[in-house]
Amino acid sequence: MCGIVGYIGERNALPVLINGLKRLEYRGYDSAGVAVLGENLQIRKCKGKVTDLEKHLDKSLQSGTVGIGHTRWATHGEPNDVNAHPHESHHGKFVIIHNGIIENYSRLRDRLIERDVKFKSETDTEVLANLIEFIYEKSEVGAELAVRLALSKVIGAYGLVVMCKDEPDKLIAARKGSPLVIGVGNEEYFLASDATPIVEYTKSVIYLNDGDVAIIRKEQLILKTLKNDEQGPTVQQLNIDIGEIDKGGYEHFMLKEIFEQPKSINDTFRGRVRSEESEIHLGGLYNVLPKLIEAERIIIIGCGTSWHAGLVGEYLFEDLARISVEVEYASEFRYRNPIINHDDVVIAISQSGETADTLAAIRLAKERGAMVLGICNVVGSSIPRETDAGVYTHAGPEIGVASTKAFTCQVTVLAMMAIMISRKKGLITDERYRDIIREFTEIPGKIEKILRHNHDIKKVAELFQNATNSLYLGRGYLFPVALEGALKLKEISYIHAEGYPAAEMKHGPIALIDTKMPVVVVATKDSSYEKIVSNIQEVKARNGVVIAVVTEGDTVIKNMADHVFEIPQVDNIFAALLSVVPLQLFSYYIAVMRGCNVDQPRNLAKSVTVE
Ligand code: G6P
Repeated sequence: MCGIVGYIGERNALPVLINGLKRLEYRGYDSAGVAVLGENLQIRKCKGKVTDLEKHLDKSLQSGTVGIGHTRWATHGEPNDVNAHPHESHHGKFVIIHNGIIENYSRLRDRLIERDVKFKSETDTEVLANLIEFIYEKSEVGAELAVRLALSKVIGAYGLVVMCKDEPDKLIAARKGSPLVIGVGNEEYFLASDATPIVEYTKSVIYLNDGDVAIIRKEQLILKTLKNDEQGPTVQQLNIDIGEIDKGGYEHFMLKEIFEQPKSINDTFRGRVRSEESEIHLGGLYNVLPKLIEAERIIIIGCGTSWHAGLVGEYLFEDLARISVEVEYASEFRYRNPIINHDDVVIAISQSGETADTLAAIRLAKERGAMVLGICNVVGSSIPRETDAGVYTHAGPEIGVASTKAFTCQVTVLAMMAIMISRKKGLITDERYRDIIREFTEIPGKIEKILRHNHDIKKVAELFQNATNSLYLGRGYLFPVALEGALKLKEISYIHAEGYPAAEMKHGPIALIDTKMPVVVVATKDSSYEKIVSNIQEVKARNGVVIAVVTEGDTVIKNMADHVFEIPQVDNIFAALLSVVPLQLFSYYIAVMRGCNVDQPRNLAKSVTVE
């Protein structure tokens, strides 16, 4: 979590930092701060968002051409002005911004206090600033060596940028566990937690690897390891466009991203699903196909919405590819003593490619000899770099904290994989394969149709904006959709929402039903249709209020439910891709009506880089 930015060059650094922080606010928004080096070094920081920080900025910061900035998601120390970054060392020689956690900070802090070093904040980051300064002063080494020596004593994760007042011509950046990207301009460099603040200035970037330290002057970048081995940086070209990271006329990123789904699914198909006559082609899996096809078991790991996509994957792989699947929360998997066999295939799903628990679970699975594949959205992020092979979802940048288009693109990739394996194993007939591919390519058009009915969904949302509790039910492929629908509602509107397999309702949640609590039932026409109709009757028999997601033309449920959201007819295996869309819109409209900050819900962050 936390977003960090930096700049060194000829420009006025402040606007670069502030624009960058606004783009990174999805990573945390408890407090914000900048440090700019002009005639002297000035720091401004405060609790709150970047717009709050802007109120503290004055002309005196305008002249600096070197600077760093930070937007925080608090781990150590409550969000307040003092704990906000940047942090200055005790004698004011170093200023630092940091994303990650220094696990041994308490011991380091005690040892520094014993040596009369004074602390102002409760953060682990200030310990690092003081440790660097302590080594710098005691050993009389330069700033770079002081940083490398300090980092060699640190246990934990960091993406950090350091400024030294005595050496104002450089920034020192380092990475272990938390992402850091450097944009390469013409006699200028841009640093950020991801590429979004950089893309408007340059498309040439260097992704730092764990253990890298970069010493950056405006005319030169030197990349080293902590142990001082120099290495040639690899400059890559970004393929995102500035338009992709703006709201594009929508009120919120989340709404824009919901409406982008037809395009992002098409982008995820492109070059992979061509025609009913040709095979699905996933280039990233080419080298591992034999092992994937032969797999006895697939273990899918992820967190949050990505875990929900994994659940849809379980149904797809078992149904189509006849491979047994387990879906695990990465955070549970990594701390158990899981049984992993050499012929298991582990699939890690992550939008950001940076989720700490998912990364740790990948490392554990690799240690135990499994082949690990990744399904990620952010190109060049940590997970694709640590996995054996994988498939990118081409959803484009997802900025809204609540995931929407990433989910449908993850499910699209899982469906492509399952269909491809099924075909290679000879489990589907040519005719069924052609039908499936035809249906698959019609999905974007069908989503467009659902989106055209957004005003009907908004009207229903109006009726339920004051709800305090809600229940989401689904069966089969639609059970993960119920979970995802409930997650969307609770995370952005703060209405308590519980997702449940519809048949399990009888074992507990049925007790909650009253005339006020909306029960959202995902009940499109599939093999469980008759069963879910019975579940709806059970709710209605207890005077419950039912909002149902149904297949167009369904009159049976329409007559029973209080409200319906219609989706086009679709093959069971793709039902999740369509049925989730009205639920995303429903949550969105409710949250807006309740005055919630839809793109930046309280306490959450887009990319959870702490465990
Ligand atoms: C956070 C985000 C969720 C996301 C989850 C997993 O909780 O708010 O939207 O689903 O992390 O993130 P990942 O990047 O690994 O998919």
